[in-house]
Amino acid sequence: MPTILVTTRDGQELSLEADNGLSLMEVIRDGGADELLALCGGCCSCATCHVKVEPAFLAKLPPMSEDESDLLDSSDHRDETSRLSCQITIDDGLAGLRVAIAPED
Ligand code: FES
Repeated sequence: MPTILVTTRDGQELSLEADNGLSLMEVIRDGGADELLALCGGCCSCATCHVKVEPAFLAKLPPMSEDESDLLDSSDHRDETSRLSCQITIDDGLAGLRVAIAPED
């Protein structure tokens, strides 16, 4: 059960225990960060689960699909660290993963 570190929009840092097999979006939402709206419930069709990933962890994440990339293009805040958290599945290799919730579009 890896620990994930999440920075909220107001700068609060959450340390969350993440069950393997859950999506990062579910871990953040269930950890109390209501600002991560995740409106589509993880179907990769809303982009309201946008997070910025600490660069050192980017290579440990699953590759980005074309759908995810297209959705991120709809955000004014996309950069090279952007991912949709519903597309990241937790496993032990992500222990210590650090992400920040992206600004609201
Ligand atoms: S929850 Fe909608 S795209 Fe991730």
